[in-house]
Amino acid sequence: MTLLRAFFCQIFGLLLTFGLAYWLPIFHHPIVFLFTQSGLAVGNAFLLRQPSWWLLIHLLFLPSVFVFFTLALPSWFYLMAVVILTLIFWGTVRGDVPLFLSSSEVAEAVAVLLKKENAQTFVDLGAGVGSVAIPIAKQLLAVQVEACERAPLPWVISAFRGRNLSNFTASRRNFFTADFSKYDVIFAFLSPRVMPEISEKLKGEMRAGTLFISSSFPSPNWQPESILHLNDRRKTVLFCYRI
Ligand SMILES: C[S@@+](CC[C@H](N)C(=O)[O-])C[C@H]1O[C@@H](n2cnc3c(N)ncnc32)[C@H](O)[C@@H]1O
Repeated sequence: MTLLRAFFCQIFGLLLTFGLAYWLPIFHHPIVFLFTQSGLAVGNAFLLRQPSWWLLIHLLFLPSVFVFFTLALPSWFYLMAVVILTLIFWGTVRGDVPLFLSSSEVAEAVAVLLKKENAQTFVDLGAGVGSVAIPIAKQLLAVQVEACERAPLPWVISAFRGRNLSNFTASRRNFFTADFSKYDVIFAFLSPRVMPEISEKLKGEMRAGTLFISSSFPSPNWQPESILHLNDRRKTVLFCYRI
């Protein structure tokens, strides 16, 4: 459905731009044409409430096609690019959260919380390349750290980065199939779209007294125990929920 909507946004943007070009010669200019189409595609995506990262994809799609077309690169280059992007953004076309990386300040703040909690087990749901899980595993050797990631390339990278850490595991799976009762602290940096579903699973499965930390996105209908405002590049907010 997400992909179908994205396709519609692009095609409708293209048809509207052709319509404008038919009536107004200014739209014959390639740059004006390209940016009008991408602007309209972004507008369509906004109206159809596509997730925010799709707006960037729509903005860059046709201009990138044009640039790469003019570069006349060999066909294997495109195949490689598609393969690499697919391995990174595995489920994004189906609506999964894409890869964004947390800052080192987030990892540091989570490590402080783990120490306070005297936690023995920790998981990052959708761990990406291990930006949070690896520094924590390095710093807190007594904590069993798991990086749960579905996309193949980020999973391989985090497994490689943690290859010498005996308290670190990189598991390649969908976090919706994980058993949340195993962990003392669970961390996630996802998107508003998945928060309702993941929150219900967390409330149903986590043990009483354990902690869920959500970076940037609050859980709906759940009162956080505390909220931390970090002074990193993104001014990240950590929402902490006690089960
Ligand atoms: C915003 S990134 C966060 C990466 C990392 N936790 C960090 O803070 O730097 C979200 C990650 O979740 C992964 N992801 C999304 N849905 C998932 C799912 N259902 N199961 C496992 N991983 C998932 C994506 O592949 C992506 O790498």
